Amino acid sequence: MLADKTIVLGITGSIAAYKAADIASKLTQAGAKVEVVMTDSATKFVAPLTLRSITGRPVITDMFEPAAEFKIGHIALAEAADVVVIAPATANTIAKLAAGIADDMLTCVVLATKAPIILAPAMNVNMFENSITQDNLAKLKARGFTIVDPASGRLTSGKIGLGRLADIDKIIGIIKQVLGRSGDLAGKRLVVTAGGTQEPIDPARHIGNRSSGKMGYAMAEAARDRGARVTLITAPTSLLEPIGMEVVHIETAAQMKEAVARAVAQADALIMAAAVADYQPKAVAKAKIKKESPSLTLELIRTPDILTEVKGDFLKVGFAAESQDIVANARQKLEKKKLDLIVANDITDKESAFGADTNKVTLIDRDGKVDSLPLLTKREVADKILDRVVGFLAKKARK
Ligand code: CTP
Repeated sequence: MLADKTIVLGITGSIAAYKAADIASKLTQAGAKVEVVMTDSATKFVAPLTLRSITGRPVITDMFEPAAEFKIGHIALAEAADVVVIAPATANTIAKLAAGIADDMLTCVVLATKAPIILAPAMNVNMFENSITQDNLAKLKARGFTIVDPASGRLTSGKIGLGRLADIDKIIGIIKQVLGRSGDLAGKRLVVTAGGTQEPIDPARHIGNRSSGKMGYAMAEAARDRGARVTLITAPTSLLEPIGMEVVHIETAAQMKEAVARAVAQADALIMAAAVADYQPKAVAKAKIKKESPSLTLELIRTPDILTEVKGDFLKVGFAAESQDIVANARQKLEKKKLDLIVANDITDKESAFGADTNKVTLIDRDGKVDSLPLLTKREVADKILDRVVGFLAKKARK
């Protein structure tokens, strides 16, 4: 989604300026055209040549010597931008922007652009917490700037506190979210479930399954990048929590059902990518079960079937992990659970097994259309599914 986007990356004079090189590198690798604008003091912390080498583009430092391709300097740059990101943003730049002062290339671009603007502040804790800075940030927020809150930790001054530049992945996640606002799912609300539920046996043990959560997380991130407001309801996974969405952590099928019921209230679609346990122990032992008897029998009872039981006027997309008669079994589930679309995959196929980064699926929809997709990354599969969701939502809107 970053491919072919023009991102103006403003760098100001903070010790965190060197981290901007990493941001520029990740954005460039993702295919974005990164136009770096540095303030004078930023160039004291990191050399323009570093950014130039990373982005393969001229770096703009001087108001009066714009790079050759920007014939009218800041205006052309402001117009070319899909998004302007200032990371790190110092208290000084924040104050200038709040006051509408434009006395360098960066502040001129910000004042002249119609693109969304993201600020990632980085400064000393006292400067950040000072009410002047807080007022300035509140003012900019009210004007539509997106602020990526700084993280807490050890600052250069040796103090511990708020003021460190936010995590790079967080900043990039927010850039994607902001760029996605004009995507084909803009204004839509999607609920996505992910991971394998865990049904407790005693305080130390549970019944689980092999789901990694990767498919659900890829679904949630793809939906975010296309502009949707996403609620991700996730069972425990080893994945990093995605940025730019509401994330609800649950463990059991019953908890997932409750979280789904709450989240779908205003949803346009529910995508159940989670591997929900079908059975749970009838009773959960209060104390750890001791190794006393030679054998142990656990009595299991059915968990709620979330897709079947959750009611409301939204699209329902289910997954069917099958090991035989894939299409026939999946079609049966589609009908039984009254789904709009089911995504069937063959879990005996190594390339689309649990934990893989790829998936080979067949999409079967309520109109009987069967579409066998080639081996794709989970993110590509997610986008194919969302293409269908977009189509169904458009059809529904026409009715
Ligand atoms: N699902 C659900 N609630 C459950 C079990 C499954 O909502 N208690 C959802 C899954 O998230 C998936 C779809 O139903 O989207 C199909 O899940 P799957 O495990 O393949 O099917 P089951 O209905 O559990 O049938 P079986 O295990 O017998 O194949």
